[in-house]
Amino acid sequence: MTVSGSLHGKTIVLGVTGSIAAFKAVILARRLIERGATVLPVLTAGATRFVGAVTFSGITGQKVAADMWDPEFAGEMHVALAERADLVVVAPTTADLLARAATGRADDLLAALILCARSPVLLAPAMHPRMWDHPAVRANVASLRGQGRIDLVGPASGAVASGESGLGRMVEPEEIVRAIEARLGSSPVPAPVQLHDLSGYRLVISAGPTQEAIDPVRFLGNRSSGKMGFALATRAIARGAEVTLVAGPVSQTTPSGVIRIDVTSALEMKGALESAMPGADALIMAAAVADFRPVHASAIKWKKGHAPQALQLVENPDVLAGLGEARGEARRPVLVGFALETGDREHVIAEARGKRVRKKVDLIVANAAHIALGGDDTEVFLVDETEATAVGHMSKSDSADAILDRTVQLLKQSAS
Ligand code: CTP
Repeated sequence: MTVSGSLHGKTIVLGVTGSIAAFKAVILARRLIERGATVLPVLTAGATRFVGAVTFSGITGQKVAADMWDPEFAGEMHVALAERADLVVVAPTTADLLARAATGRADDLLAALILCARSPVLLAPAMHPRMWDHPAVRANVASLRGQGRIDLVGPASGAVASGESGLGRMVEPEEIVRAIEARLGSSPVPAPVQLHDLSGYRLVISAGPTQEAIDPVRFLGNRSSGKMGFALATRAIARGAEVTLVAGPVSQTTPSGVIRIDVTSALEMKGALESAMPGADALIMAAAVADFRPVHASAIKWKKGHAPQALQLVENPDVLAGLGEARGEARRPVLVGFALETGDREHVIAEARGKRVRKKVDLIVANAAHIALGGDDTEVFLVDETEATAVGHMSKSDSADAILDRTVQLLKQSAS
C-alpha cells in the first residue's frame, strides 16, 4: 500500500448514496488510497443496492459504516466519524441526499455525519437531468450555496443511465480527486502512486480466442480480441505480480515483464495452462475457449466443389472446470472465470451464478457480449458466492483493476 502521495495522512469520509454512479465511488476510493489517504466508507441503504459493502471494505481496508444504530459501536458513530474526517465527500450524491443536506435532516448516518462535520464537505451530484432541473432541486442547491458550509463538484453534462443526455451526470473520479486536493491544500502529484498489492503473487492469465482447425487454412473461432486478458496482465504486472499469460491467436503487444505462452487450439491452451499452474496463486481465465472442435481436421485443403456434407464436432474439455475439480476443497489457487452472455442483466447474472457453481470457481466475471466483444470498453458484474456487483461501463483497463481488486481480496481470504 501507498505510504506517500498528495493526500498522505489525510482521512476522508467517502459517503455513497443510491445512484447508478455508485460504482464510480469504487474508483474514487482507489484513487484516494493511491494518493495516500485513509478512506472511511459510509454507505446509505440505497447505495448498498448498487455496490456491496464488501467491495468498499476490500478496497479501503476499513469497516463500512452503514447503520447508525449498530450496537457493536461504542459511542455516537456520526460524531466519531465526523471528528476523524479531514474532509467528507459524498459521491454520488442523489437528489434525496442533497435535499436532506440542504434542510439539515439527520435521518440516517450520512446525513447526521454531514450535519456534525467541521471539515470541508463536498457533494458530487448525480441524477437525471430533469431532476437536476427541477425547481425544488435548484432551491436546495441555492440554499446549500447560501449556507456556505458545503461545496458541490459537478454535475457534468453527458449521457445518463437512461441513455438521455443533459446536465446531471456525476463528474469523473479524477475531477473529484482534484477538488479534494484543492480543498485540503495538497498539491497534486503528476502520476498516482502505484499500488503494489500483488507483489509476491504469481498469477496465470489466459486471453484471446482459440482456433479449432478444419483444414490447414480454415478454423472454427470466435470474435475475442484478447484485450481484456492483456489489460489484466498489464495491470497485474503494474501492481507487482509475476504473470504468465497464455494467449490464443491475437494481435496484442506483450506487456513488458510478462511471460507469454502462445497457443492456438483449446487442447493446446489446456496443456499450456496445466504446465503453468503448479505453484500459481491464482488463475484468471479470460480466454474465450472454443466449446467444440471438428472431429477430424483434414490434412489437405478442402477444395471448392468438394465440400463435406457435414462438419462433425466434438466437445472440447472445459479447462476451467477441470482445474476447479482438481482443486477440490483446497482454497488455492484462487480461480476466476469469465462468462460471456447475451441477454439482459438478470439473465447474464443468473448464467454467471450457474457457471460459478458448475465450474467450482471463486468468482465469475460476467460480460454482456454486445459491449465486451472486440471493444475497448466493457461492463462487467463480479459474481461471487454471496453477491453480484455491477462494476459499470468503463475501459477494459479500469475493469481489469476492479477484477484484480477482488482477486486480491480472494487471495487474502484464501490465506487466512
Ligand atoms: N472455459 C474453459 N474451457 C472451455 C470453455 C470455457 O475453460 N472449454 C472457461 C472460459 O475461459 C471462461 C468460463 O469457462 O472463463 C466460461 O466460459 P463460457 O464460454 O462463458 O461458458 P461455457 O462453459 O462455454 O458455457 P456456455 O457455452 O453454456 O455459455
